[in-house]
Amino acid sequence: MAIDNSWYKELVVYQVWCRSFKDGNGDGQGDLLGVLEKLDYIKSIGANAIWFSPIYPSPNADWGYDISDYKDIHPDFGDLDLFKKIVDEAHKRDMKIIMDLVVNHTSSEHYWFKESMKSKDNPYHNYYIWKDGKGGDSKGGKNPPNNWLSIFEGGAWEYNEQLDQFYMHAFAKGQPDLNMDNPKVREEVKDIMRFWLDMGVDGFREDVITFISKDPDFPNGFPIPIACGIEHYNKGPNLMKYLKEFREDVVNHYDCFLVAESPMTNSKDALKFTSGKDKVFDMMINFDHMNADCFMTDTVHLPFSLKRFKKALSSWQENLYGKAWNALYIENHDHPRVISRYGSEKYRKESGKALAVAAYMMSGTPYIYQGQEIGMVNNHLKSLDEFKDVVTFNNEKVFKKFGVPRFIYLKIANLTSRENARTPVQWDDSENAGFTTGTPWFGVNKNYKNINVKDAESDPDSILNFYRELFKVRQNNKIFIYGKYKEYFHKNKKVYCYEMKYEGQKALVVVSFSEKNIKFKAPRGFKLDKDNVILKNYKDIEIDGNDTLTLRPYEAVVFLYK
Ligand code: NOJ
Repeated sequence: MAIDNSWYKELVVYQVWCRSFKDGNGDGQGDLLGVLEKLDYIKSIGANAIWFSPIYPSPNADWGYDISDYKDIHPDFGDLDLFKKIVDEAHKRDMKIIMDLVVNHTSSEHYWFKESMKSKDNPYHNYYIWKDGKGGDSKGGKNPPNNWLSIFEGGAWEYNEQLDQFYMHAFAKGQPDLNMDNPKVREEVKDIMRFWLDMGVDGFREDVITFISKDPDFPNGFPIPIACGIEHYNKGPNLMKYLKEFREDVVNHYDCFLVAESPMTNSKDALKFTSGKDKVFDMMINFDHMNADCFMTDTVHLPFSLKRFKKALSSWQENLYGKAWNALYIENHDHPRVISRYGSEKYRKESGKALAVAAYMMSGTPYIYQGQEIGMVNNHLKSLDEFKDVVTFNNEKVFKKFGVPRFIYLKIANLTSRENARTPVQWDDSENAGFTTGTPWFGVNKNYKNINVKDAESDPDSILNFYRELFKVRQNNKIFIYGKYKEYFHKNKKVYCYEMKYEGQKALVVVSFSEKNIKFKAPRGFKLDKDNVILKNYKDIEIDGNDTLTLRPYEAVVFLYK
């Protein structure tokens, strides 16, 4: 019998991307000392859980998502004792700790990989996906096994001369994919999970976990310029079998939960993983609503479409209701800042709050990302040399192939790069935004004098204080956690309107996504009355006798009918 872990439904998770969170020792890098110092701040927002993006030793080919030791802490961040202290201090405050579990791939600096390169009969060789090349041509048989391209860095196969074989990497070269078909690898994964759970962590966010089973035939992929072949390892043939093993052998024996990152998974697919007797995840991080201003990936930018955003959210609310559980988020370390994407930098405060209302007054577990709570916005770098991410570098090459000049690509990167979310958190208006007393590893956003935690603390009308209020409203009114969702006016391109229903109560959420005033007539059956307003982002609301609201730019109002 699995342990009842349904407490995950009432979590509010705060994501820490440690290197940019808060530097506690003055070396220019965020670290665990900084996190320890800010635990009460995180709690004060209304969060009762922290998800750590990887804080393990890593050579940083992908800023931590390339792990070279699964059972230690990166020396830049601290050590295991300090981490244990954070777990204890968090638990004292009734907060949970979630680790990022990255087991689709390791770092190429991991001991297993280094061993695997030594010879074909090394016990670790079969921990990875090594294949002979295809050949017999002028290149002397050294062509890759198929046409797959990585998601992050050129081809998906890297040649090793000594072995005369290729290893596969879905992401960067420094991130070789593990061979999950090898039962020993699966035992290693379980061992890693037990290690952290025994230490007291409360769950895992599983990185691209739906990529762990590859098509054993490794057929050629559909020819696209990035990630060609992905259809042959996204939700591969043995995925369910392996996930069940992890669940049954480990997860079910601990009071913990799992949230799975799963690109290219729609809400119907998600039910296979998150409901019924075969449930392997407690919830999934989906990408549908993050594609409302792009095609497949943030880099292929399109104008923001509220209709697409609403459709995605509605689909997850409707399909999962009563069967499975949603993860609610609008920012993380992989996307540009949401105000700059879906809101308006001009109406930063209003739209920051409006986006929070749109995303978090529905059923599911909210996740917020460091800096989101103060309305941090995109960065504007002057030169491509200032960027630091393998994805930015790879995309530069891809765009170059299509003839896009560097100065245009700089604009694209500033608009679409995930590095926008990785600038240091702006704590105050002192030098380096109070992030570090040293030299910050990555430039602080120039707007820190106007956007910082200290200012937000002292401004009753700040985005930060609005988040606090919003999470209190959720906590005190279970309708926003467990209620049944229904969307109204789905064709409306400027207003998002939905109803929540729970135990005889009803709520109506109305959010404008426009910079102009809009007249909004309530759906039939709803009486718009100031007395029913439970949350709003303007001082007062403007209703005329006819149940019509005048919505000002990015106005958001939530009515509750008890
Ligand atoms: C998804 C993570 O969120 C992202 O940051 C990382 O680069 C890739 N997986 C590869 O691990």
